[in-house]
Amino acid sequence: MVGFYGGSSAPDMPPRMPIPAPGSDVPLGTEEAAVSEDAMTLQFPLPDRNAPEAVSVQTQTGEMGPTGRPMPVLPDPRPVTAHGHARVISMCNQKGGVGKTTTTINLGAALAEYGRKVLLVDFDPQGSLSVGLGLNPHEMESTVYNLLMDPEATLDEVVVPSGVPGMDLLPSNIDLSAAEVQLVHEVAREQTLQRVLAPAIEEYDVILIDCQPSLGLLTVNALTASDGVIVPLECEYFALRGVALLKATIDKVKQRLNPGLEVDGVLGTMYDGRTLHGREVLERLVQAWGDKVFHTVIRRTVKFSDSTVAGEPITSYASGSSGAEAYRQLAKEVAVRCLDV
Ligand SMILES: Nc1ncnc2c1ncn2[C@@H]1O[C@H](COP(=O)(O)OP(=O)(O)OP(=O)(O)O)[C@@H](O)[C@H]1O
Ligand SMILES: [Mg+2]
Repeated sequence: MVGFYGGSSAPDMPPRMPIPAPGSDVPLGTEEAAVSEDAMTLQFPLPDRNAPEAVSVQTQTGEMGPTGRPMPVLPDPRPVTAHGHARVISMCNQKGGVGKTTTTINLGAALAEYGRKVLLVDFDPQGSLSVGLGLNPHEMESTVYNLLMDPEATLDEVVVPSGVPGMDLLPSNIDLSAAEVQLVHEVAREQTLQRVLAPAIEEYDVILIDCQPSLGLLTVNALTASDGVIVPLECEYFALRGVALLKATIDKVKQRLNPGLEVDGVLGTMYDGRTLHGREVLERLVQAWGDKVFHTVIRRTVKFSDSTVAGEPITSYASGSSGAEAYRQLAKEVAVRCLDV
């Protein structure tokens, strides 16, 4: 087993940095949060041993899954007859390029295939989610920015169809970067997205928020508006850097702003099962997060980049591909864990 962060078998890693004292304050969504990151990224998050079993699965296939645990049998999500009471889930990891946007699009599309009414929220000024669904960032009439900043703007004016039946999108572009600055002066600035999304809760079954790669005010807004968080993590050596700070941020939002917030799952992405390295990273993830780690793992395949270029989810671009199947399996696992309970 490779020793991460501090073990003698990690020769390239910098020496251990001191951990901030348990009571020490990392201000939410501020520069200090970013500055204090180095001190915390070198620490591996402690597993939450008191956390309830995340998956209540009765049966197992008997096969060993890629995470080194027996693969459960995952039933199809329960059919829904009426929509509403949406669960709001943020895709969150301040590390860039780990599969947040890819997971938002494809998990959303897979849940929509199973009959769920899905709203995707592009909450990243890069606008990758919107572009990944074929929108032109220069041709958007109104965006999430308008919803956040203009009290007159309504959800219906901003929501657009995503091209996938049953799935809508709240698009964004670079305008959203101004909101981060402007919101600082607002009263209850952390609750702005929550207020804006309130009317959508009774219309949709699932709302997925694609966060930007930072723990700034926009991400704190996303976490405050959410019932759950999914943390996509690339299955590579440095993936665990920063996870401690992410966990601290989630814990602080839970304590101060949103007591109901839960980690719905940790998702291994860009996995290459042919390498020992990839398997070791997954093993380490399971050691740290236990049953929070999804049994489903997303393998590395160029089909994802191809489908982004095509401006559609992999579930429609390459419906029979292993990538599409993986996201359908993730949709089932998410349903078992937190939609059909
Ligand atoms: N399983 C995968 N296999 C191969 N490529 C992938 C996979 N998942 C995502 N990618 C590609 O990796 C790149 C980064 O993915 P993505 O945009 O989803 O990450 P992100 O976490 O949203 O990034 P950012 O932090 O910049 O928003 C994209 O080009 C995407 O097509
Ligand atoms: Mg992204």
